[in-house]
Amino acid sequence: MIECTVSDGVCVLRLNAPPLNTMTFPLLDELRAAVRRADAAPAVRGIVITGGADHFSAGADVGLFRDIGRAEEAVRTSRVFQEAFQAVEDSPKPVLAAVAGRVTGSALELAMACHFRVCTKAARFSMPEVTLGINPGAGGTQRLPRLVGAEEALKMLLTGEAIDATQAQALGLIDAIAEGGDLIEEARTVIRSASRPRKTSTCTDKVSAAANETAFRRARERLAGMRPEIIAPRIILEAVEAGLKESFEAGLRREQEGFAECMSTSATRHKIYLFFATRETGKIPGFSGQAGAGITAAAVIGMGSMGTGIAQALITSGVRVAVLDQDRSALQRGAERIRGSVRKRVEEGRLAPEAAEGMLGLLSTTADWRKIADAQLVIEAVFEDIPVKRAVIGEIEAACGDGAMIASNTSTISLDVLAEGMRHAERLIGMHFFNPAHRMPLVEVIRRDATPPSVAATAIGFVKAIRKTPVLVRNREGFLVNRLFIPYLKEAFWLLEEGAEAPVIDSAMVEFGFPMGPLTLIDMAGLDVLVLTDRVLSRAFPAHGPLSKVAVRLVERGHLGQKRGSGVYKYEKGDRTPRRSAEAAHVIAEVQQAEGRTPRPVGKGEITRRLVLRMVNEAFYVMAEGIAQRAADLDVAVVLGMGFPDFRGGVLTYARDLGLGNVLADLDKLAAEYGARFAPCRLLRETEGVR
Ligand code: NAI
Repeated sequence: MIECTVSDGVCVLRLNAPPLNTMTFPLLDELRAAVRRADAAPAVRGIVITGGADHFSAGADVGLFRDIGRAEEAVRTSRVFQEAFQAVEDSPKPVLAAVAGRVTGSALELAMACHFRVCTKAARFSMPEVTLGINPGAGGTQRLPRLVGAEEALKMLLTGEAIDATQAQALGLIDAIAEGGDLIEEARTVIRSASRPRKTSTCTDKVSAAANETAFRRARERLAGMRPEIIAPRIILEAVEAGLKESFEAGLRREQEGFAECMSTSATRHKIYLFFATRETGKIPGFSGQAGAGITAAAVIGMGSMGTGIAQALITSGVRVAVLDQDRSALQRGAERIRGSVRKRVEEGRLAPEAAEGMLGLLSTTADWRKIADAQLVIEAVFEDIPVKRAVIGEIEAACGDGAMIASNTSTISLDVLAEGMRHAERLIGMHFFNPAHRMPLVEVIRRDATPPSVAATAIGFVKAIRKTPVLVRNREGFLVNRLFIPYLKEAFWLLEEGAEAPVIDSAMVEFGFPMGPLTLIDMAGLDVLVLTDRVLSRAFPAHGPLSKVAVRLVERGHLGQKRGSGVYKYEKGDRTPRRSAEAAHVIAEVQQAEGRTPRPVGKGEITRRLVLRMVNEAFYVMAEGIAQRAADLDVAVVLGMGFPDFRGGVLTYARDLGLGNVLADLDKLAAEYGARFAPCRLLRETEGVR
């Protein structure tokens, strides 16, 4: 696991634990032993700790955290890491970390325990523990502030965001960048000129009481807006404060205890569950083939909102893309949007100008079908209309070779319908991206019953290659996310019709943990989209019931949402803040009158219960029909695709936490009051029975 070579007075310790050099207890033991040997060897004047030429280490093995049961185990895990890195720092000989790639979490904690740090130009540094709901437990909250100051350290620790090599050097995290490209050569040069160790734990030049106080105050302000269920940010701040106000050792103790506290919360356990579940979604049971990463040339048909985002996602991952649209102005607008978005990333310092040029060079636009002939994968994102899509698929089959895979981004149309009349229907698959496609991490890969596993595997491999999370879904109306999402939105309109206030509905769901409420969200997506999608879904699932007339009327009157300045809410020009809408209130009152309803106040408790249980029930239907392969896939999909709060672990985990017996009883009550849409799925009754 650790290779040791000594030459010219320098001992190079190379981590070699494929594939990612993740840190496990045995690796830490070996590291300590190797450093001890180097310390004792008279021929060694300095030590270099390094990993692969492009990748140092992915940090701690998250599996270690998953296995933690009791608080003492958490404290022990943190202590073992801390002591191993302390042993590195305590070496009497200069120790240098020579790092490459993404240096994250414990990998960076190890590098910071070394006396000097050298990195490649492309290296990136981050402390992402907070995103998993834990605090760094291996000295990171202590050494980072001593190297870069409390302000910058807290920024990195509380956001989990990465910085690049240049930023790291400017902050003092890195001593030198191997500009020439030879990391080890650069490391040797630096370590030869180092006369003695420089312990990070005793560095004081970046910390001053006044600057620390300002940083603590800013961090406290940042914490004020965070969810109380997630305690890691508070623990991180406490550990940094303890370390800078009391002592390095006090800070380390706070890290250990805090780590145990985080591990005892359900929010953290749920985040860790999702971390692993996200890595499993791409696996097809019984199929071990690897494919998809080899796709380097693709085409996208339709350069509307979705085609543009998809094309951008592809070029960002190095895939050459030809985008075809029948409308030349759409092509121009789309290409301009992509250029604007890429340029913005350059301006924000998130992308090097050369990389941006390279990306944009991969994009071409055309109205000529012959120009897509060499595409290995064609993704259609044209109007949601069966004849239009069928005609486009026909053109693709005529233009491309038989080996090309054809993916549809349809949101509602059954792939079986689109497959009719195809020459090679087996190569049709669904790739359902979410809007905006260049940012949203989820892609539903939809397979028909007739889809060969190798085709599904290629699609999944491709989605992973463009750094998104694939979830394999069986072909049925609404697929997976929309199948839950549309009933949730419909319930929000029923609540409006009954008398609930729109801002109260939205804030109930924000308090539950969604990034925004359902009505604000539908105003963004367009109420017309809801009406169209529901037409397909309620035909397939009559028990869902009709869409409230409130939504139908709003659409009829042109209140389509933000794009018209008016939907459920009203918007002022150039401002996306939802404001109360007198027109919408009028429509609601009209519907109430026509339906003979007396509006009643509806509290947040009822709102949350109805909206969430509507999703929970539908989730069980989706499982019963085999739409999702595993319960964990469904949990991942709702978190990544619709913003279901990750600290609740997804919709099925949430249901289990509520207690399936309670869910069932509640659904029975709601069904008695509101009808079949709440009638509990049979699977729920059966599952409840066996638990
Ligand atoms: P859009 O209306 O913005 O864009 C469609 C584009 O396709 C237009 O630029 C149009 O000129 C082009 N097009 C139409 N017929 C064509 C043909 N025969 N040949 C070449 N180009 C043609 O539509 P949007 O919103 O991008 O949706 C596209 C697809 O993605 C639809 O199937 C939709 O259901 C699906 N989808 C939409 C989402 C959304 O939030 N907008 C989310 C997920 C999927």
